[in-house]
Parts: sequence; C-alpha cells; structure tokens
Amino acid sequence: MRMIDDETALPEALLGKRWHELDIYQAPEWYDVDYAGYRGEEAFYRLVLERCAKGGRLVVELGAGTGRLALRFVAAGFRVHAVEPAPAMRALLLEKAAAAGLAGSASFTVEDALAATFAPPERPSVVLFPFNGLLHLRTTEELHASFRHIRETLAPDGRFALDCTGPYWDAMLFGPTAWGRADERVHPATGAKVLTCDRSGYDATTRQMRIDIRYLIEGTDEGVQIELRQTMWTWQQVLAALNACGFVVEQQLGDVDLAPFDEGSPRLLVCAACR
Ligand SMILES: C[S@@+](CC[C@H](N)C(=O)[O-])C[C@H]1O[C@@H](n2cnc3c(N)ncnc32)[C@H](O)[C@@H]1O
Repeated sequence: MRMIDDETALPEALLGKRWHELDIYQAPEWYDVDYAGYRGEEAFYRLVLERCAKGGRLVVELGAGTGRLALRFVAAGFRVHAVEPAPAMRALLLEKAAAAGLAGSASFTVEDALAATFAPPERPSVVLFPFNGLLHLRTTEELHASFRHIRETLAPDGRFALDCTGPYWDAMLFGPTAWGRADERVHPATGAKVLTCDRSGYDATTRQMRIDIRYLIEGTDEGVQIELRQTMWTWQQVLAALNACGFVVEQQLGDVDLAPFDEGSPRLLVCAACR
C-alpha cells in the first residue's frame, strides 16, 4: 500500500517526535481518546432495542470494542452479550465492566469470537454490528459468512442492526494523503491534551483503506502511531449481502440524526428482519 512518507508535512508540534507503531485494536486507550465520548449512533440502536429487546431478551453486540455502546445498554437495563476478538480491546472492556460492578453478572457476558463464529448463551432477539465493524470483514466470502451466521443465530423474530460509512471516494480517487488534519483531543482517562493528525492510502486491488493516526500527549516526545484498515464496501454491496443472507431491510436511514437515506447520505444505518 503506497503511503506518503513525508515528515515535513507534520504540524510543527508533532515534528521530531518518536512514534510507537501499533494496530488500532492493540491500542484501546488510544481508541478511546478518539471515540469513547462519541454517542452518534446510540439513539438509532436504542430505538431498535426498545422495540425488539424488552423483557430481558438477549442483545448481541459484535465487535463491542471497549464497551462504548454495550456498557451503556447494560446500564439502561438490557441484557448484552459482547463479542470482541481483539485481546487488548476485550481486556479494557472487561476492566470497565468490572469497575461498573458487572463481573459475573447475568446481564453482561463477553466472548472472544468473530461475527462469523460467535456462540451466545441463547438465541438473541437483536444482533448489533455498530460503528463500521463490518468494514473489518475483508472479502465478500467473509461478509456473507458473517451475515449468514448472524441470520442462523438470531431468534426467528430477531433483528440485525448495523451502521457504516460509505467508501471514502475522495481518498480512493485522488491517491494517498500526506500527514494532515491536525487536531486536538482530551484523553478520557487523564484529561491530558492530546495532539493528533493522520494520513491515508488506498489499495484498489484489495479495496483496503489504510489510515495512520498519530497521537501525542502535549509536552511529551514519544507518541503513538496507530494503523486502521477498512474495506471500502459500497452500500449496494452491504444491502445485497443482507438480501442474499436471508434478511429483509425494515428500516434504512442515512445519518445518526435518523435522516432518511438517499444517495448523498454520509452513513447507512439498517435494521433488518429475518425473511
Ligand atoms: C470500530 S470498532 C467498534 C467498537 C464498538 N462497537 C464501538 O462502537 O465503539 C470495531 C470492532 O470490531 C472488532 N472486529 C474486527 N473484526 C471483527 C470480526 N470479524 N467480527 C467481530 N468483530 C470484529 C474490532 O476488534 C473492533 O473492536
């Protein structure tokens, strides 16, 4: 994958620093710097759960990460089975669950598995695959195997809800971008000011987008460079895979504010029933 290796493009505050390179899901603390406080799609999933998972029925979250959504749904009274394959993400999820008094709780279980292999304690009424989780499925076979397994695992009256961004057409069309988009974050655990910037590259043969993100705590000399890889599924491919795997789309929205879906929408949010 061609990436632009030009340190001079960095904002001044990030010049001349040392960088430790990690995969994004080996660095849950840094995942949380960017996303722990983000609530965008929560309202959509909450409405699905209110409609379909009341009365103690089981909810599965695939790719539950550090528990950004899962732990809030448990706190709201839902019974959640969190599926998370990345050991470091799962470890932070378990740590947060223990801090919330959920260790050994019947309302919260955690499994090391994939969307194509998970085995919940009972048939769930809802399976969620939020926040671009399905962009980690790399081939059409993996996408279909995952959707088929979800369909076979769900209760007959169950629902499958997901959300994903569309392909990053500009980055795909115009080639790799140099370090840029400098910004600031607040570390969710320490409150420290974090400086960040990113660059991206795209490989058309594998449909893989690679985004490198650097984080530096202000005033320090060593930062972290994390790598995120996503498959640029088109929405047509996602919708076709749902149809091919036995789902019928019941709700299709175009953004986290529940706007209707159209060709120019920034996101696809879908709730599908079993056909
Ligand atoms: C973008 S994060 C979303 C985390 C969490 N759901 C959230 O909303 O913050 C995607 C998660 O999916 C997990 N993941 C990657 N491949 C997966 C797969 N094949 N099946 C299930 N989860 C997967 C990653 O380890 C990561 O924690």
